[in-house]
Amino acid sequence: MKNYGEEILQMVDICKVFDLGDGKKLHAAENVNVTIHKGETVGIVGESGSGKSTLAKMLTRLYSMTSGKIIFHGKDITDLKGEALRQHRKSIQMVFQDPSTAFNPKQRVKEIICEPLENFGMIDKKDVEAKAKEMLRLVDLPEDFADRYPNNMSGGQRQRIAIARALVLEPEIIVCDEATSALDVSVQKTVLDLLVRLQKETHVAYMFICHDLALANSFCDNIVIMQHGKVVEKIHDLREAKDPYSKKLLASVFTIEEGKNKVLPDELFN
Ligand SMILES: Nc1ncnc2c1ncn2[C@@H]1O[C@H](COP(=O)(O)OP(=O)(O)OP(=O)(O)O)[C@@H](O)[C@H]1O
Ligand SMILES: [Mg+2]
Repeated sequence: MKNYGEEILQMVDICKVFDLGDGKKLHAAENVNVTIHKGETVGIVGESGSGKSTLAKMLTRLYSMTSGKIIFHGKDITDLKGEALRQHRKSIQMVFQDPSTAFNPKQRVKEIICEPLENFGMIDKKDVEAKAKEMLRLVDLPEDFADRYPNNMSGGQRQRIAIARALVLEPEIIVCDEATSALDVSVQKTVLDLLVRLQKETHVAYMFICHDLALANSFCDNIVIMQHGKVVEKIHDLREAKDPYSKKLLASVFTIEEGKNKVLPDELFN
């Protein structure tokens, strides 16, 4: 088992209620507790609509919380506002499923990668080119991509650019919301290998949201299983799931039968 570091962040009793109008309310997160350590990969799995992205958006403060607390390095940052919140955003970055929608097609790759640094006044215009090339090298893309536009790139290349952009502020946590789900299996593997290498080099922690349970099991140190906004179970290895919902979720994916009991094929986890 990987030896990850100290606790970075705790989400404590997080709730999110969406007001759907006509008095209807949707509980997208109910008393969710998640802890993230330095260098750890925390998986979030669960069926569509279980609240995974909502949780990620509260962590990155794209959504407000209805109630609950976020503790960062022992400090309650739930009520951070204004400039303090803006500065905090550096620590937690996000990579989405389809980065093409997040990129401005009129920006060159170097501008896309360095934009977060520019937003925080952390880079001079003259240094953008060199910094972008350094980041491109880090994510195994050719330096001359710096002057290209994102539209004429493959999905895997665009996702590497999204990772470079997410890393440029040296965050402590990167939230990957189905970040590899749209890629072909072979491309997915190279992007996952990249994430593993970057974690070894930078000790960044990942919150890895994924609907592929076998992938989550092999990639994540710990996994949070969600259903209807609630945490059903937190486990290190999905094969040890005890909760009936977790078992049902697994059975719906892994259908190899051994006698009466469905079992998980080991080779999917190696
Ligand atoms: N801005 C919003 N306003 C109202 N309801 C929302 C909003 N965002 C999400 N929801 C609802 O909250 C619930 C959880 O949605 P969420 O996107 O977090 O699910 P998910 O687990 O990420 O699903 P998927 O696997 O399909 O991405 C869903 O019922 C969704 O319709
Ligand atoms: Mg989602």
